[in-house]
Amino acid sequence: MSVSKVLGMDPSVFLAEYWQKKPLLVRQAFAGGLDCVDGDTLAGLACEEGIESRLVVEHGLQPWATRFGPFEDEDFAALPASHWTLLVQAVDRCLPDVAALKQEFLFLPNWRLDDVMISYAADRGSVGPHVDNYDVFLIQGQGRRRWDIGGEALVDPELLPGLDLKILKEFKSAQSFVLEPGDMLYLPPGFAHHGVALDPCITYSIGFRAPTDKEMVQSFGQYLAQHMREDGFYQDPDLSLRAEPGLILPVEMQRLRNLMLRAFEDPTHFQRWLGGFLTEPRSFHSPAEDSLEVGAVLATLEQHSQLIKGEGVRMAYYKAGDQLFFAVEGETLVLSSELEALAAYLCREQLWESSVLRLAKAAPGFAELMSHLWNQGYTREWTED
Ligand code: SIN
Ligand code: CO
Repeated sequence: MSVSKVLGMDPSVFLAEYWQKKPLLVRQAFAGGLDCVDGDTLAGLACEEGIESRLVVEHGLQPWATRFGPFEDEDFAALPASHWTLLVQAVDRCLPDVAALKQEFLFLPNWRLDDVMISYAADRGSVGPHVDNYDVFLIQGQGRRRWDIGGEALVDPELLPGLDLKILKEFKSAQSFVLEPGDMLYLPPGFAHHGVALDPCITYSIGFRAPTDKEMVQSFGQYLAQHMREDGFYQDPDLSLRAEPGLILPVEMQRLRNLMLRAFEDPTHFQRWLGGFLTEPRSFHSPAEDSLEVGAVLATLEQHSQLIKGEGVRMAYYKAGDQLFFAVEGETLVLSSELEALAAYLCREQLWESSVLRLAKAAPGFAELMSHLWNQGYTREWTED
């Protein structure tokens, strides 16, 4: 692969040497800086219902006092002159320019990408020294921020008690950088970091969150409970006479355990569940008002040159044997393997060219898939070049 603009290096070198291993500072990853939002736009978003936002005031009623949105204009008017931060989650789902940033990170799997959080910090604003449990690319938008970072990943570090935020009890800076507009800092999970705004500044956090084993067991367990057969009773035709009726024998324990493990090991259940789990919706997409009939898909593709994917719509595909699974917003579809190139294209691109979509028109299920994506509200609109 060639050099990635945002990494300033071959992505395979980044994966081998930095990803989940050590921090990387890239000067001018986004040459000249990012200008997708300003403080006012962000404050406007934080006043909307359904958008997750927080205000962190360093010297409020208690240190790092945190309040959750939606906010009102008066909340902003009452803030001090310095030492506060507004953080807005999942801005990529609201603004196309922010969604477009994710296209610079195609060297990483879609399903690991969580969202783009954007913060506005007043002068000296900070959310304190902390660790995150995910990989994050911190991009400096406007203004400057000094980042101090730890020298190694911390496991279960001690936190200051009784605060709204998880602030480290002890933080030792191993490296310090001043990020200028357009600079980017990559941090693996567990690396302590503390960013202080040197001017009022904007920071974009592109977070790559990994599921935990606990979350997977919980979700898969629920899936199994709903989808597995009901008559998988424990059987013991070889039961022999025992000394104590209250004793559960080791062989019985093993058999009970195996009964359960067999369900967990069943590849069919796993395959059907996985895509839905990894693309679980993080936002609501209202179904299209004008439905697209299966029979009208080809004619509609002839009439328009491009179709835009909905911002924040999560998609992934995978193969098992000769089956192709396509997951979108928590739903797993089984597609004809002839649609594999289309599935890859739909996942990779934000803007779909009708001419490319039409390449798959002869494959079984093509029109059904396209009408489903439109009708569910997973696409935004048709456009022309
Ligand atoms: C911020 O944008 O203020 C905080 C981002 C982070 O530390 O992850
Ligand atoms: Co952080």
